[in-house]
Amino acid sequence: MDKFVITGGKPLCGEVTIGGAKNAAVAIIPAVILADSPCRLENLPNISDVTIIVEILRQMGAVVKRVNKHTLDIDPTPIKTHVAEYDLVRNMRASYYLLGALLGKFSKARVSMPGGCDFGVRPIDQHLKGFEALGAEVSPIEKGMIDLKASELRGSSIYFDTVTVGATMNIMLAAVKATGLTIIENAAREPHVVDLANFLNTMGADVRGAGTDVIKIRGVESLRGVSYSIIPDQIEAGTYMAAVAGAGGDVLIKNIIPKHLESITAKLLEMGVDIEENDDSLRIVRTEPLHKCNIKTMPHPGFPTDMQPQIAAVLTVAKGTSIVNESVWENRFRYIEELRRMGVRASVDGRLAIFEGVEHLEGARVKAVDLRAGAAMIIAGIMAHGVTEIEDIKHIDRGYEDIIEKFRGIGAEISRSTSSPDSFAIAN
Ligand code: EPZ
Repeated sequence: MDKFVITGGKPLCGEVTIGGAKNAAVAIIPAVILADSPCRLENLPNISDVTIIVEILRQMGAVVKRVNKHTLDIDPTPIKTHVAEYDLVRNMRASYYLLGALLGKFSKARVSMPGGCDFGVRPIDQHLKGFEALGAEVSPIEKGMIDLKASELRGSSIYFDTVTVGATMNIMLAAVKATGLTIIENAAREPHVVDLANFLNTMGADVRGAGTDVIKIRGVESLRGVSYSIIPDQIEAGTYMAAVAGAGGDVLIKNIIPKHLESITAKLLEMGVDIEENDDSLRIVRTEPLHKCNIKTMPHPGFPTDMQPQIAAVLTVAKGTSIVNESVWENRFRYIEELRRMGVRASVDGRLAIFEGVEHLEGARVKAVDLRAGAAMIIAGIMAHGVTEIEDIKHIDRGYEDIIEKFRGIGAEISRSTSSPDSFAIAN
């Protein structure tokens, strides 16, 4: 079982280049199904979540050619099936975008239910509410499969009871070829929602208002294959920013869209970090002790929940008491147990975590309980005095391309090793 080994306690210096956004890629790749001719997708992150969704399309009949590490040519025209039931589908949460894309393409879809997740229940009731509003009949879930059928998809008005990224993007995928006008209210405003809308419009769709809480979609007859480049990953950028804030140092972060990082930048400035923004890069410097600060995760443009574990790792050494309020997910603090092994002083009460800043963290053996928690453990290891070993790193490989190489490139002492089974386990 692979693990990361980190010797921490040193500042970070140098340059790091950010890749394409995971949460845009996992929606835009299924959207290719809607095109009547091949697409070329550029600036795709080379991560296992992308590999999986591409393999699912290939298993459905798409012809996929790798142009280079970050560019794929995908011809969806051989896809004739509306069914996606492979094991791969069940193991990846974002497979639910296949529902919207297949419904939009074939007026029917049959997809395995998405897997659970590490931080609580992840319902899809708003996705199904939107599909029904468009005229789809949702059959009772049998054998873990979701079955949608529509005699004809017709535009409709949909109000989401809660702001949901997945349902906003999924309904967009189904509505672009529905007859008439669809209005989505209380829509998610994340950068990847806008990126999907831009991709669909490049293919000839008519999506207006993405990035606001009201999105209007007028259905069109057909969508053509195009070339499109995915936006940079705001969470990957934020993760490296948090690492510099925690470890100290001076790093240039390249290939970013500063506007997508506004809430992260604002909080780091509040903690006493210096940030100098350029058009598509920023320089982050931290030399002074960090101030405490309170964080409340919110849908965009609020502070992103996917940065919550990473910023919390930094707050563990900020002078004073910091409070983190996780308002999006019901249980996204499991990583704090792991941080406690490194000397962190924290208490959790429901959706609130309270951190008492300590002088420094101590290296320890810890686990990555999910993708962003894993990133937080890497940040903690780089900050800590001594050696940290992180197990269960498969989660991290799902969403961060070349994370070892990128951290080494800015001076972190980190390596991947294949650990032998624990001697105690053998004794047993
Ligand atoms: C997306 O998940 C992201 N995943 C998550 O990132 C991210 O945490 C989340 O959006 C919020 O930004 C992908 O894009 C692949 P939601 P999603 O629907 O779409 C409730 C990462 O680390 N809800 O916006 O599943 C839900 O329970 C991952 O990259 C319903 O009640 O999230 C949650 O409380 C982790 N009913 C809230 O809405 C629904 O039908 C937000 O969920 C759907 C959601």
